[in-house]
Amino acid sequence: MNKDELIVLLKDTGAEVDRVLDEFLPPEDTYPEELHRAMRYSIFAGGKRLRPFLVLQGAVTGGLQYQQALPLAAGAELIHVSSLVHDDLPCMDDDDLRRGKPTNHKVFGEAMALLCGDALIMLGFDAAAANAGIDGVDTTRALAALRELHKGVGYAGMLGGQAVDISFSATTVNADTLEYIHRHKTGAFITYALRAGAVLAGLAGSDLEALTCYGDDMGLAFQITDDILDIEGDPALLGKSVGSDQRLGKATYPALYGMDRARRHVADLAESGHAHLLRFGATVDPLHALLDYIVERDR
Ligand code: IPE
Ligand code: IPE
Ligand code: MG
Ligand code: MG
Ligand code: MG
Repeated sequence: MNKDELIVLLKDTGAEVDRVLDEFLPPEDTYPEELHRAMRYSIFAGGKRLRPFLVLQGAVTGGLQYQQALPLAAGAELIHVSSLVHDDLPCMDDDDLRRGKPTNHKVFGEAMALLCGDALIMLGFDAAAANAGIDGVDTTRALAALRELHKGVGYAGMLGGQAVDISFSATTVNADTLEYIHRHKTGAFITYALRAGAVLAGLAGSDLEALTCYGDDMGLAFQITDDILDIEGDPALLGKSVGSDQRLGKATYPALYGMDRARRHVADLAESGHAHLLRFGATVDPLHALLDYIVERDR
């Protein structure tokens, strides 16, 4: 699968995920309208819909039809967007632009953005739980998929990484701490979104391990690329301001290793990621293409 074909697939599946998101999100004209507006604002502001895509591809790798994993995929996007809303708050990264629009707190205020992020996490798990009602999906597996999402986003995943990211802002970190931050704040949810889909489909054993290794490689490569784009990306394409990391003294790969080594690290991770997929054959063509897309991206 080439890049153009991947982009079409991302767009098509993204549209289906958006339809499910629209069903789960509360209407804007029901009380309390402000909270509902804030939730819909950040969900439908744009975004690559990468985590839902990973859920769907994980499910396909395990033998399901992607349509059977749509509520779980929508759940992953709801949880991801909660992390963006909170990450942009003044007490975190204090950013003004996200997905090409003013950040949630800039529009709705800090208190509402906090509540909105909380509501999105809760709804994300509700949407994911609704996957148990989908035809041909085993309820025990649907429950196991919820636990994968929690591992990705909870204290041992994204929130742990965000905690260390905040603790070490404006200080110098060593290589181990930097790797911990990146593998947790971003990598964990990438890996566990993929695993959630795979576990929903019943994938286990060495196949699940191989998919996990691919996710880990992609997750770290994704955040190093995010660091690089914060230095040399185009805000018009990224939809977010650049230079935030330097302003806040964040621990990043370019800051610790320099740009060339950071880039080489991304290339090594991509090579390793592709190798972990070899056992799956043509089923994982989209995952190969996605890895290339992620490390070469400009947005
Ligand atoms: C941004 O994620 C937050 C990070 C983990 C670096 P994405 O770059 O996937 O953001 P969207 O979903 O496309 O807006
Ligand atoms: C954030 O990393 C990871 C999240 C959990 C949102 P960054 O703080 O670098 O993400 P951006 O650059 O704001 O999207
Ligand atoms: Mg951050
Ligand atoms: Mg940030
Ligand atoms: Mg960043």
